Amino acid sequence: MFAVYASAIDKDEPLKGLETGELPEPAAREGWTTVSVRAAALNHHDLWSLKGVGLPEDRLPMILGCDGAGVDEDGNEVVIHAVIGERGFGISDRERPTILTERYPGTFAERVAVPRWNLLPKPASLSFEEAACLPTAWLTAYRMLFTRSGLRPGDTVLIQGAGGGVATALIALGRAAGFRVWATSRSEEKRVRALELGAHAVYESGARLPERADAVMETVGAATWAHTVASVREEGTIVISGATSGPNPPAALTRVFFHQLRIVGSTMGSRDELAALLKFCDVAGVRPVVDSVRPLAEAPDGFARMAAGDLVGKIVFTL
Ligand SMILES: NC(=O)c1ccc[n+]([C@@H]2O[C@H](COP(=O)([O-])OP(=O)(O)OC[C@H]3O[C@@H](n4cnc5c(N)ncnc54)[C@H](OP(=O)(O)O)[C@@H]3O)[C@@H](O)[C@H]2O)c1
Repeated sequence: MFAVYASAIDKDEPLKGLETGELPEPAAREGWTTVSVRAAALNHHDLWSLKGVGLPEDRLPMILGCDGAGVDEDGNEVVIHAVIGERGFGISDRERPTILTERYPGTFAERVAVPRWNLLPKPASLSFEEAACLPTAWLTAYRMLFTRSGLRPGDTVLIQGAGGGVATALIALGRAAGFRVWATSRSEEKRVRALELGAHAVYESGARLPERADAVMETVGAATWAHTVASVREEGTIVISGATSGPNPPAALTRVFFHQLRIVGSTMGSRDELAALLKFCDVAGVRPVVDSVRPLAEAPDGFARMAAGDLVGKIVFTL
C-alpha cells in the first residue's frame, strides 16, 4: 500500500529521512482492526519523529501520522484515538501506552491498524478532513483548557504562538467555551487570522499586556517562556504541552514562587476526552482550523510548510 514514512533519522535536516512509496499492509493482531484512511493530519510530532525524538533507528521504516479518520472494516465512519494501549486495550502487560508512530505504524497510509477500542464514531456534521484534525493537536488543546487549567467561563487565557496547530485549537475552543481569549504571534498575518478565529485581542510575541491573564497556554517553549511567566496573574496557572523552540529556558524561579504560580504539564488526552471533544464540535459548531489540504502523495510539501513555521492551523492529507 502507499505510505509516507521515516526511512532515516536526521536531527538537523529531518526532511531528508522522509520517503513516499509502497510498504506492506498493516499486521493483523488480536483485538485490532484495520481502518481505510480517508484523511490524516500533520503534527509537529511527525517532524520530531524524523529527528529521532521518540523514534529510534531500529524501528525504521516507520509510517508517520498520529491523526486520522476513515472507514472501518464494517463500513462505519470513524475517528482514530492515537494513544495505543490506554487502559491496556490492545497491548500486552509488559508494554506501556504509546502514540501511533512511536511503536506502531501511523495514519499516513492507505490503511492503518489499531485496537478496536481506539475507534470512535465520526459525527456526521464533521467532514473526514475536519475529523482528522482532532485526535492529537485538538485533543491536547481540549485537555489543556478544560481538564488542566482550572479556567472558568469569563476568565482570561493567553495563548502563545497563535499560528500553531495546538494554538489555533486553543483559540477556537477557548472562544466557544466563553473565555476571554488573547493570543500572541510573531507575524502580523497570523495575528489577523487569530482574530478571525475568535481571539478577542492579539499581541506581538513578547508584548506587554494590558493586564495579566488568569492562565497561559504554552507550546512554544524557550522563545516565549519569560513572557509567559511575566504575563500570568498572581496564583495563576501556566499549562505547558510543548516546547517547539527549545526545552531549557531560564526557569524564572523567583517569579514562580513569589507570585505563587501553578505550572501544569499536559500531554495528549484520553479516549473519553476525545469523545467529549467530538461532541463539543458537533454541538457548539466549532470546526478545526485547516491551513491547507493536499493529496497524501504530496505530503512532503506539507512537511516543508510546517518545518518553515509558515502555517495557520492544520495541514491535512487526503486519500
Ligand atoms: N504534549 C503533547 O501531547 C503534545 C501534543 C501536540 C503537540 N505537542 C507539542 O506542541 C508543540 C506545538 O505543536 P503544533 O503541532 O501546534 O506545532 P506547529 O503547528 O508547528 O506550531 C508551531 C508554532 O509555534 C510558534 N513558534 C515556533 N517557533 C517559535 C519561535 N522561535 N518563537 C516564537 N514562536 C514560535 C509559531 O507561532 P507564531 O508563528 O504564530 O508565533 C508556530 O506557528 C510542538 O512542540 C509539539 O511537539 C505536544
